[in-house]
Amino acid sequence: MILTFGNVCTYVNYIWQFTQMSYISDEWQVARRRKGVSSLKPPGDSDTENQLEKAPEETLMCVCYGLGSFSSCVAARYQLAMLLLLLDARQILLRDCYVYDPAFSFAEKNVLRELGLTVLTENEEGKRLATKPTLFYLMHCGKALYNNLLWKNWSIQGLSQVLIIGNSFNGIKERTIERELKRDYSYISKAVDLCEERLLPCPSHQIDVFGDTAVITFPSESLNRLTQSFWTEPPEPQYLDCSDLEITLRESSPSETLLTGDS
Ligand SMILES: C[S@@+](CC[C@H](N)C(=O)[O-])C[C@H]1O[C@@H](n2cnc3c(N)ncnc32)[C@H](O)[C@@H]1O
Repeated sequence: MILTFGNVCTYVNYIWQFTQMSYISDEWQVARRRKGVSSLKPPGDSDTENQLEKAPEETLMCVCYGLGSFSSCVAARYQLAMLLLLLDARQILLRDCYVYDPAFSFAEKNVLRELGLTVLTENEEGKRLATKPTLFYLMHCGKALYNNLLWKNWSIQGLSQVLIIGNSFNGIKERTIERELKRDYSYISKAVDLCEERLLPCPSHQIDVFGDTAVITFPSESLNRLTQSFWTEPPEPQYLDCSDLEITLRESSPSETLLTGDS
């Protein structure tokens, strides 16, 4: 499938209808269950159902953090539409796409499950190790989520499995005071020089949705250039001096305990 803005719009309408129906009609839910999930395909789509039957040798898996509340936020709805298109385009099984946002409502989690995605129940704070090639979809997320993700995968082996679609690291660098970037988000600060970024084109009226979004990869030539000491024992981020931490921490996370002083 070719990704076009028209495709994204079709999916946005589809998700919107689905969301509304899930909220208002129990009868519709029952009818849907009788018909099966394939009835959820947007009109004209022929790939989504086939995708479920394919088992490609080396597929990507996908992790989506910070999508936002797509029942109330148009930007999140567009981003969900783009995610579904990306999964389709890359032939990633819907169930191999793990989604988490503490902002999801009960109904939104149900919608995501009905779509076939896997909703994570634990707040990982972005600290997920990529054990196979993984597309991380983090649209307009807080810097701490990116920084945690980089920390968890801070090795040649780890970063070479990571592909991020999210905020441009160069954009983050430009917008952040250098001293604070190095102190609080040291992994982003270092990753800027290691990664390859391709900025995605964005229609001017969609800046809030897809602006500053890049495809970020870590070419092996950049990773292998560095000495072993660069990678050894990377310290876990703590964010002790961050006044505007844009991440929801786990209730009992060590970082939060340190931040609040609770024992
Ligand atoms: C700036 S909003 C972006 C929302 C949406 N993607 C958009 O562009 O409008 C950041 C999102 O990150 C989510 N978030 C915060 N902490 C998170 C965590 N630990 N794991 C996943 N998502 C998190 C927030 O709930 C919020 O929805």
